[in-house]
Amino acid sequence: MTGFAFMLAPIEDMTSNAFRTLCHKYGADLTFTEMAKVMALARNNKSTWSRLDCSDGTPTAIQVLGSRESEFKRFLGMFKPAEGFRGFNLNLGCPSPDAIEYGQGCAMVRKISKTMRIVSMFRDCGYGVSVKMRLGMNALDKEYKIYLKIIESVDADFFVVHARHGKQTYAQPADFGVYEECVKTGKDIIANGDIRTSAQVESLKGIGVKGAMIGRAAVLDPAIFNRLKGLPVPTAEALREEYIALADQFQEPDKYRNNILRRIGLSDLALFGNG
Ligand SMILES: Cc1cc2nc3c(=O)[nH]c(=O)nc-3n(C[C@H](O)[C@H](O)[C@H](O)COP(=O)(O)O)c2cc1C
Repeated sequence: MTGFAFMLAPIEDMTSNAFRTLCHKYGADLTFTEMAKVMALARNNKSTWSRLDCSDGTPTAIQVLGSRESEFKRFLGMFKPAEGFRGFNLNLGCPSPDAIEYGQGCAMVRKISKTMRIVSMFRDCGYGVSVKMRLGMNALDKEYKIYLKIIESVDADFFVVHARHGKQTYAQPADFGVYEECVKTGKDIIANGDIRTSAQVESLKGIGVKGAMIGRAAVLDPAIFNRLKGLPVPTAEALREEYIALADQFQEPDKYRNNILRRIGLSDLALFGNG
């Protein structure tokens, strides 16, 4: 990975093609689709497949959530990369009870061998693959530092570390103290969670983190990437207009428009709830 990378986080029902394109224009070097369940992709569910749409050249990693190798195999047999495709991202972070019941999302942080095998399946098909993870399922996982074992063992292009465990809500701050030991593994680490300021970015650069992934703060300010790079940024009103034009161009459903348009230009991260 060359230079410090700014990445737009996957946010369900928000980071569709129009929003990703807008953020890329204003400084996001790489963007991510909202998560798509491999179980539904393998069954050829049309609405889940639409989450993978990349209709322009915006650099996009496709995020998938799953745990069964047979489903990954079936899905990979059906997948064809589009122009902007920049590899897959495996979700080891989702803390929802549904995901955990199936052993997916942050429950996968405990499953090192399985994660290694799934990552190899992407590699065997010739695709890049990264991992986005929480620090484990709960405080005990975090205390045992199981996240370091995944980072050490798995052959991913980079690891996005959302510095919370699965039982933590957004009301509890991300733990910036974990990144240094993650970097010491020698793997490429991207920090995620509560990043909004140049001071945070400078401190992350100082400890050898390779990039910052920004989610909620980018929905409020899609030009935050350029802002943090010290480049010019348009007004919130101009960003809203650009977003509407892109959403029209890509014919995006109302739920995406509503979720974005009611947040652009505001400043309070609590608008996303504490889940
Ligand atoms: C409404 C909402 C939806 C999210 N959807 C996803 C998702 O689909 N995949 C994922 O890996 N993370 C998802 N996340 C987590 C974000 O990608 C990110 O890790 C988290 O918000 C912390 O980063 P931030 O403080 O910059 O927002 C979601 C977060 C929120 C608030």
